[in-house]
Amino acid sequence: MINFDDVPKVALEFMNTDHEEATKITNTLQTLIGAADNGQTNPQAISNTLEKLLIHCREHFSREEVQMQKINFPPYPVHQGEHQCVLNEMEQVLENWRKSEDLVALKRHAFETLPKWFIGHIESMDSITALFIVRCGGPFESE
Ligand SMILES: [Fe+2]
Ligand SMILES: [Fe+2]
Repeated sequence: MINFDDVPKVALEFMNTDHEEATKITNTLQTLIGAADNGQTNPQAISNTLEKLLIHCREHFSREEVQMQKINFPPYPVHQGEHQCVLNEMEQVLENWRKSEDLVALKRHAFETLPKWFIGHIESMDSITALFIVRCGGPFESE
């Protein structure tokens, strides 16, 4: 389980709210995997949760990207590139799970790869981006 208290906070509240939501969905996923480890696999619930996380991340990332575009944030392509990269990976993980229900691979993703990426991304890209947006007078209304 990821404790939200351990997730770094950034200078923009809407981003912290998104990070809390991503933490909650990841924890649900980890709980379902834990149950599967105890012989109570619910493949459909796991698929649904992976899908929910993917949809959340698409929206969460796009909210950050809109703010970056408003201020012509110079490292936008790098930040956006990291988002795209992890979305591709999450789509792949969902597809593989539906195809093979490989619990070992899913476990690695949900307990290692994803949380590590998430924390690292917030510490670097999201923290700097949030500070920059605040310094430019944001967050800005999106029309
Ligand atoms: Fe974020
Ligand atoms: Fe981000």
